[in-house]
Amino acid sequence: MTNAPVDDLGRDDRDAALHAVSGAVLAVTRHLSVREVFQVIVRAAARLLDARYAALGIPDDQGSFAEFVVEGITEEQWRAIGPLPRQHGLLGAMLRDGKPERLADIRQDPRFVYWPRAHPVLSAFLGVPITDGDDVLGIIFLANKRRPGGFTERDQELLTLFAAHAAIALTNARLYERNRELTVMAERSRLARELHDAVAQKLFSLRLTARAAVALAGRDPARVPAELAEVERLAADALAELRSVIFELRPADLDEDGLTASLRKHVEMLGRVYDARLTFRGDLGIGLTEERELTLFRIAQEAIHNALRHAHAREIALRLRREGPRVSLTITDDGTGFDLATAGRDGLGLTSMRDRAEEAGGALTIESRAGAGTVVKVEVPV
Ligand SMILES: Nc1ncnc2c1ncn2[C@@H]1O[C@H](COP(=O)(O)OP(=O)(O)O)[C@@H](O)[C@H]1O
Ligand SMILES: [Mg+2]
Repeated sequence: MTNAPVDDLGRDDRDAALHAVSGAVLAVTRHLSVREVFQVIVRAAARLLDARYAALGIPDDQGSFAEFVVEGITEEQWRAIGPLPRQHGLLGAMLRDGKPERLADIRQDPRFVYWPRAHPVLSAFLGVPITDGDDVLGIIFLANKRRPGGFTERDQELLTLFAAHAAIALTNARLYERNRELTVMAERSRLARELHDAVAQKLFSLRLTARAAVALAGRDPARVPAELAEVERLAADALAELRSVIFELRPADLDEDGLTASLRKHVEMLGRVYDARLTFRGDLGIGLTEERELTLFRIAQEAIHNALRHAHAREIALRLRREGPRVSLTITDDGTGFDLATAGRDGLGLTSMRDRAEEAGGALTIESRAGAGTVVKVEVPV
């Protein structure tokens, strides 16, 4: 075997290593999305270490991966392979133990488990954990060294360096996200004030009318029903006012907070003024242009509105996902459902959702059946 030990690396090798690592450093500082940074890192690692395949995975808390970036696999292969890997087998073991793994042939390893049929055949394997202190944040791994002899000690050292950069990128992104959340919290108190101003007047009248009704109950009971009817009217007004304030809230901070935080905020607000349970789940590092973020936000608003107003849904779930080169948003409700053939035709809301999606180069699909709820899904390219 002719694997050069680290000390007598040729000058070209050293230059290449320096170049690749500095590319990774720059990617981290260039404010790219985490995903883009990961892509730069994975690509550089594959090239530099002469691996046919490379991948980087950040686990989510559902047993799958929140981010999974690959190099060496075409878009078509990727689609054929199907869903992201689960956190099991060797990847699962690495996530648990946080130890590097260097194998001459991964197929001989007892932890090697099922892989989908379209998955490329892997042999030589090198994986290192991406860590922050004792926490294992993810893993980066290479497979199928092009030169014979498999991965070397030096390859492992270099990959560890790339893993450190991935850790920085990820920590950065999380801090950024946290920062946005803090901004959102400050924003919330502003919003609370606005809402208060919008409905305080109504609530004040309501209180006076209720008090009058109480006073009349003893003296002039015949007038009580009229007062109570007024109480009801004012309460309904206040509620309507409150809802419209929330619905008309321009997503003014979309550019500042980003789509994920804005949707979360919107869903939270609505959950407070409607009886339905609204939930939101979103991926890290969505990477959309501002224009497309606005498109998705508007579509979400309309879909939720429909679910609340027409479907009488008990549960409305939003899910924002990054799926390869696309971002998808689904709005699922458990309401009455409807017949698309008749309702979809002239509804302005449905039409405008579709138009918006198409203008953004994407598509909108609706699945609905009477009695079985509705799923609105919009997909736009990144
Ligand atoms: N999530 C939903 N659940 C049940 N019915 C719906 C849903 N979304 C839309 N619809 C039906 O489709 C029709 C058209 O919706 P839309 O185009 O948004 O217009 P609008 O909301 O102004 O009625 C609604 O009136 C309603 O009957
Ligand atoms: Mg509508």
